Amino acid sequence: MANRHEEALRKSLNDPEGFWGEVAEDLIWTKKWDRVLDDTNAPFYRWFTGGECNTCYNALDRHVEEGRGDQAALIYDSPITGKKAKFTYTELRDKVALFAGALRAQGVGKGDRVIIYMPMVPEAAVAMLACARLGAVHSVVFGGFAANELAVRIDDAKPKAIVSASCGIEPGRVIAYKPLLDGAIDLATHKPSACIVLQRDECRAELKAGRDIDWNEAAAAAEPAECVPVAATDPLYILYTSGTTGQPKGVVRDNGGHMVALKWSMKSVYGMDPGDVFWAASDVGWVVGHSYIVYAPLLQGCTTILFEGKPVGTPDAGVFWRIIAEHGVRAMFTAPTAFRAIKRDDPKGEFVGKYDLSKFETLFLAGERTDPDTLHWAEDILKVPVIDHWWQTETGWPIAANCMGLDPYPVKAGSPTKAVPGWDVRVVDENCEEVKRGDIGAIVCKLPLPPGTLPTLWNADQRYMDAYLTEFPGYYKTADAGFMDEDGYLYIMARTDDIINVAGHRLSTGGMEEVLAHHPDVAECAVIGVADQLKGELPVGFLVLKAGVEKPAADIVREVVAMVRDKIGPVAAFKQATVVKRLPKTRSGKILRGTMKKIADNQEYKPPATIDDPDILGEIDEALQGIGYSKARS
Ligand code: COA
Ligand code: AMP
Repeated sequence: MANRHEEALRKSLNDPEGFWGEVAEDLIWTKKWDRVLDDTNAPFYRWFTGGECNTCYNALDRHVEEGRGDQAALIYDSPITGKKAKFTYTELRDKVALFAGALRAQGVGKGDRVIIYMPMVPEAAVAMLACARLGAVHSVVFGGFAANELAVRIDDAKPKAIVSASCGIEPGRVIAYKPLLDGAIDLATHKPSACIVLQRDECRAELKAGRDIDWNEAAAAAEPAECVPVAATDPLYILYTSGTTGQPKGVVRDNGGHMVALKWSMKSVYGMDPGDVFWAASDVGWVVGHSYIVYAPLLQGCTTILFEGKPVGTPDAGVFWRIIAEHGVRAMFTAPTAFRAIKRDDPKGEFVGKYDLSKFETLFLAGERTDPDTLHWAEDILKVPVIDHWWQTETGWPIAANCMGLDPYPVKAGSPTKAVPGWDVRVVDENCEEVKRGDIGAIVCKLPLPPGTLPTLWNADQRYMDAYLTEFPGYYKTADAGFMDEDGYLYIMARTDDIINVAGHRLSTGGMEEVLAHHPDVAECAVIGVADQLKGELPVGFLVLKAGVEKPAADIVREVVAMVRDKIGPVAAFKQATVVKRLPKTRSGKILRGTMKKIADNQEYKPPATIDDPDILGEIDEALQGIGYSKARS
């Protein structure tokens, strides 16, 4: 019998309108589309033009109306606070409708932006869905970003309102969000007219009269709001992600294509049926949280888990297994770094034996490449398929995966398997010619991209073109490099830009360099990502000081570390820098970051023929050994 993955892939590429048009019948539309795929303004392709829908209706109300009202929609499990809560579909719909009413009372309506800066509490999902209900556009900002990053997003999205909480909780410390929020609003040129703040028991925030409103008071005074129909092509959210500069890219997601693709992926990629319990251990601030904590599981009528904790230390390396057992999780999704953290604390996987994991069927990993060691370790201790899959904030759902709802292929360690239906993935050289199987090249996807992917960047059509569509005409540039083997399995090996992946978090080294360059004693700098056993990569800075600086190098390093934490946030995990006399460059002045990375990782390297002065590499090597890298690693 033909493989269902292969068949679906073929159909989706030969007849995208037929394929996605049929899938879309599974959703509820207030007005049916005129065209499934609209190419009238290519390369700005649009899906389901003329159609009208409401994402929140499809995620909540329809399930209540179809008899799923008493099923748990969302389970909040917070080992870090010791709290748990369960919301049925009816309860969640009512909470969302009420909060949508609270937002509407602040003047928020269709098309208005709302920034959500919240920790992992159920209210974060409620706020997202409430925006969707009103046709407002949410933009969630991850709690580990500093005030400055929040300010940049406020100025770009120009929100009418901001929804926040009094604090987030990290192991050993409570992070007051309100001073960060106030600081960001002070820094930003655009001022929101209202801030709705959830007061948490762990730390209460002082509210500013006239601007800030207590979440509970706002909800208590509100009338529930109904779902507002929006155009399928209207934006559902903006999610900012690292670009190659300090200015993040505002990835736009539409309503129609997004709900179609996500619901389809829930069954086809993740194998989940309505009523199943699905858990993505990520954060609502990342795309994984948007797609697979909030929207996809709810669109599919599953129960989703919102986890506020860490894979280790809250309280131990058994917390994932406790949650799987307690809530009957059928599949979970997290980043490989979480498994490396568990392996470090419990190398033999002894905690697994304490829990009943009989309902658990599949582990999905993404955010970074799953290294074969981690893959085999997870397979050994869990005895279930471990599925590496590859995607990006821009795509919103997987580009390559072993599709558990179709006919899965044998797993090959180090590969996220094959292109998912909808995706025409090619590996090309700099002339956009396909390379031989097994050869490394740039990974691109033929246009049009399937539904649910970014139609553009927020208010930045030209940047969208420049960043993704210009270098390889007719293709979307993923900015990942890798190869395809003889069987069509993809291997994602590296980024082709300055993005690094720290604990599954996407960060721009260029953005960090912009911060370092502002130190008054720094003449020139470079940041590279060096290999790290736990987090995958860690940023390391190189500083060339201005002539005549007498301040001790250690003080300057301490200051730049504090600057990055203050300007970008703790999530950057920028803790190491070293002072060098010069940076290695090509004769045309390009800093040789790739060579520096190879030295740091103690890998073989050949100085490029265009290097200006090869002796500098020895100095870099010495500086790296001084902070525990290069030969100091072996
Ligand atoms: N708000 C405020 N600060 C935050 C934060 C948040 N939401 N999330 C992280 N931070 C802080 C951390 O406290 C830490 O601060 P520190 O430098 O004072 O220790 C810093 O940001 C770095 O955080 P993180 O990268 O998460 O490292 P960690 O050492 O705290 O934990 C792991 C390491 C592997 C346990 C953790 O990264 C993890 O659970 N990863 C799971 C993968 C994941 O969620 N990926 C997302 C995409 S799927
Ligand atoms: P983000 O936008 O934060 O999801 O990060 C996307 C980037 O993370 C991709 O472009 C890849 O570089 C990397 N990435 C995500 N998943 C994988 C994976 N399964 N294998 C290799 N790299 C991955």
